[in-house]
Amino acid sequence: MASSLTPVLSAFWDEPESWTMATYLRHDGYQALRHALTMTPDEVLTTVKDSGLRGRGGAGFPTGLKWSFLPKPDGLPRYLVVNADESEPGTCKDVPLMMATPHFLVEGVAITSYAIGAERAFIYVRGEIVHVYRRLLAAVAEAKAAGYLGENFLGSGLNLDVVVHAGAGAYICGEETALLDSLEGLRGQPRLKPPFPAVAGLYARPTVVNNVESIASVPSIVINGADWFAGMGTERSTGFGLFSLSGHVRRPGQYEAPLGITLRELLDMAGGVREGHDLKFWTPGGSSTPIFTAEHLDVPLDFESVGAAGSMLGTRALQIFDDSTCVVRAVLRWTEFYAHESCGKCTPCREGTYWMQQILARLEAGQGTEEDLEKLLDICDNILGRAFCALGDGAVSPITSSIQYFRDEYVRHLAEGGCPFDPVASTLFAGANA
Ligand SMILES: Cc1cc2nc3c(=O)[nH]c(=O)nc-3n(C[C@H](O)[C@H](O)[C@H](O)COP(=O)(O)O)c2cc1C
Ligand code: SF4
Repeated sequence: MASSLTPVLSAFWDEPESWTMATYLRHDGYQALRHALTMTPDEVLTTVKDSGLRGRGGAGFPTGLKWSFLPKPDGLPRYLVVNADESEPGTCKDVPLMMATPHFLVEGVAITSYAIGAERAFIYVRGEIVHVYRRLLAAVAEAKAAGYLGENFLGSGLNLDVVVHAGAGAYICGEETALLDSLEGLRGQPRLKPPFPAVAGLYARPTVVNNVESIASVPSIVINGADWFAGMGTERSTGFGLFSLSGHVRRPGQYEAPLGITLRELLDMAGGVREGHDLKFWTPGGSSTPIFTAEHLDVPLDFESVGAAGSMLGTRALQIFDDSTCVVRAVLRWTEFYAHESCGKCTPCREGTYWMQQILARLEAGQGTEEDLEKLLDICDNILGRAFCALGDGAVSPITSSIQYFRDEYVRHLAEGGCPFDPVASTLFAGANA
């Protein structure tokens, strides 16, 4: 079992000006691109396939396999689109990665574009994170000036234009087809699939959409080989990933570790839950993944094990909540987020998230009834698997899982006619974490 960190993407985050080309080159930056150009595009694709890399944006789809779905080149454009929308509550890995070492991503974009035969790539950044947008613009300009992008990059005879695009800031624009609509200048709403983006994506042309961390992992795989990557993690969840610990933990932050590490091991490294408190519940992969409790501390954090235990690895956004937190209140906050971010395209999610928010607010205030709990579960049942995209399913996860593990706490709100918790006690500035 994994018990130590494997810093690759975060290896030199603490160096001064870690984001510059000069720092990146000191750490063998762009050697992977040079190496890739000595291989055929198919060989690059096979290396990524053999490494077992699975998408780091949540769903865990095998990255090399996704690339292989593109039809054979027909002389017309095909695109790489990097999903840098990162908006899920708790998910906070792509932003630090792009701020600290944007060149991992830019080099990954160049290698991936070569592998799939794209001459134009887009990095779609969530609109609010202007600092990241600026950092990416600077990194792309640096790479272009140094000859790693642009016309005839590295004398390869190939061209690559990289566009950094700022969205207007919407969670739904992280859903890959809504992202493509948004990039085309339309309102960001999911498209019906099939056709999948590999066949008809941006401007109806073959398109690969991948998460920031997926693409940023490509240079290290190309330079170190598929076996090196596959030698870390578990058999079906290979490699390393950024685990983001937040909330009631002594040392929150990014912990880059092999997949299959457990929360117990990560918490040991992070100094444990804040002093004087016990772990109550946590999310393994962001707010859209069913919550876990202390009984899941030893579940290996890989796609299969987390799934078998009833949740999803998602984006490895480990939000830690201690015993001072009211689970009903936390779930209400998440539900408010989903109701706000629902794009409104389909009825179950548009209406359902709104109703769930109303009922949860009643329950949290101690003004609900036992029937409200059943109604809540019934609405969840009518959203799960019936909504147009995965946002609907995600909205249901915290509700059903919290009722599964903490039904008593919901009932206590009803019995006591209000919330039994002091909301100030759960805030980080309450002093206990000093
Ligand atoms: C509501 C919603 C929001 C999403 N947000 C993101 C996001 O911010 N970043 C991301 O990479 N994937 C996000 N995804 C997943 C993408 O649709 C897609 O699976 C992913 O970008 C594929 O990249 P990967 O294979 O490298 O993981 C989201 C999905 C949904 C349903
Ligand atoms: S599930 Fe929600 S976000 Fe997705 S299409 Fe339907 S309304 Fe829009």
